[in-house]
Amino acid sequence: MQTTMDLPQTQTIRIMLNGQSMEREVQARTHLVDFLRDGAELKGSHLGCEHGVCGACTVQLDGQIVRGCLVLAVQADGRSVNTVEGLTGSGALAQLQAAFIKRNALQCGFCTSGMLLAAHELVEQRPLANREEVREWISGNYCRCTGYQAIVDAICDVLAERIKAAQGAQP
Ligand code: FES
Ligand code: FES
Repeated sequence: MQTTMDLPQTQTIRIMLNGQSMEREVQARTHLVDFLRDGAELKGSHLGCEHGVCGACTVQLDGQIVRGCLVLAVQADGRSVNTVEGLTGSGALAQLQAAFIKRNALQCGFCTSGMLLAAHELVEQRPLANREEVREWISGNYCRCTGYQAIVDAICDVLAERIKAAQGAQP
């Protein structure tokens, strides 16, 4: 009978990380966020609870947000991973980042990368979300500093700006 002792301890993974292909040997039990922070030197995704509750470790896997502390690095093999660094570099977060600054929606910043990725998915997938839906959407991302109101204000600002821009673009 095969036991866990017989399973390989390391595995080579090939991922598309922030648009760049990468091949690395990883420990089979390394979590994706640990690989990103320690193996790829991308420190923007944070580790808080380490069991899927706080959202600080949020990254995109094949375009959808996941908890980096609940996904193994080997599960990302052959897939695309985007972190706050990559999405900042591409400009995908620029509107949200400007709104967060304007609304003072960050203090220590520990939650901010996860909050931005969650907010980005919201504005892309739910462009007509109302304030209650915004609150519900980010309820899986904990912030210990801001009291959430400024974060919700910032996301609502972006939703409103996008609606206004879309209306202005109509013939
Ligand atoms: Fe992953 Fe908290 S560190 S959800
Ligand atoms: Fe400090 Fe959110 S700004 S935890």
